[in-house]
Amino acid sequence: MEVIIRAHREAATKLTAQIIADALKKKPNLTLGLATGSTMEMVYSKLAEMHKKENLDFSLCKTFNLDEYIGLPPENKGSYRYYMNKYLFNNVNIDPRNTHLPNGMAGDLSAECIHYENLIEESGGIDLQLLGIGRSGHIGFNEPLSAFRSRTREKALTPVTIAQNSPLFDKPEDMPKRALTMGVGTILDSKRIVMLVTGKEKAAILAKAVEGPVTAMVSASALQLHPKVVVIVDEDAAEMLQEKSYYRWIFDNEPDWLGYK
Ligand code: GLP
Repeated sequence: MEVIIRAHREAATKLTAQIIADALKKKPNLTLGLATGSTMEMVYSKLAEMHKKENLDFSLCKTFNLDEYIGLPPENKGSYRYYMNKYLFNNVNIDPRNTHLPNGMAGDLSAECIHYENLIEESGGIDLQLLGIGRSGHIGFNEPLSAFRSRTREKALTPVTIAQNSPLFDKPEDMPKRALTMGVGTILDSKRIVMLVTGKEKAAILAKAVEGPVTAMVSASALQLHPKVVVIVDEDAAEMLQEKSYYRWIFDNEPDWLGYK
C-alpha cells in the first residue's frame, strides 16, 4: 500500500482523476470500478472536464459501481444510478450499455448478485477500482464484520452509515436500510485500487484502515492485503497517520514516483 498526502482536497482529487485518465489513455477499453459519495463528485467533474477539454475518451470503457440501495428506481435522486448519471455518465461519451450498477429493484436479489459477479468476470475483471471510505470503515457497503472473501450480496447498513448518508435524501427517513454491494473479496480481485479520502472527519477511520490491524471490523483494512493499492489523502484526513513523514519521504524521493507526480 502506498499513501500519497496532498496539501488540499483539490490536489488529492486532481491526482485521483489524473490516475484514472492515464489508465484510460493507456487502455481505452478499461474496466473501471466506480464509487459514489460526496468525495467522488469532484473526481467525476474533473473527468468530465478532461473529456470536454482534452477529449478524454470513454467510448470503449466499461464501468461497474460498487453498490446500490435496495428498492430505489434509477429516477430516484437518492439512487446511485441517478448519482452516476448526474455526475459522470451524462457528461462523458460513455455508452450507457457499458455502465453497470447492481440492480436494487431486481425481483430476485440473490440472482442479481450472481449476475453482477458474472458480468464483472466476463468483462475480464476490474482493471482499476476507485474507492472512498465510509465512517464505519466500509468500502462499498461492506459494513463491519463483512467477510474478506465476501462477494456481491445484500447487506444491512449500520446506524453510522445511515446517519452519514440519510442527510443526502430529501426526506432522511426515505434512505433504504439495505443495499447490494460488491463483496470485500470482489474488491480485492481488482487488479489495481485507488482510494481517495479527504476531510478531518475521516482521519480516525483512515488511520485504522491504513495503519491499524487487519480486521473485519474495519473492512477497508482488507486493502492492506492487496499488492497494488494507492491511498490518496489530503492533510486533514492524514492528521492521525503515524508514519506521515515516511510516506512523504517516499513520494518526494522516488524519481517520478510511479508516474504520479
Ligand atoms: C457511501 C458509499 C461508499 C463511499 C461512502 C463515502 O456510503 N457506499 O462507497 O465510500 O459513501 O461517502 P462520502 O464521500 O460522502 O464521505
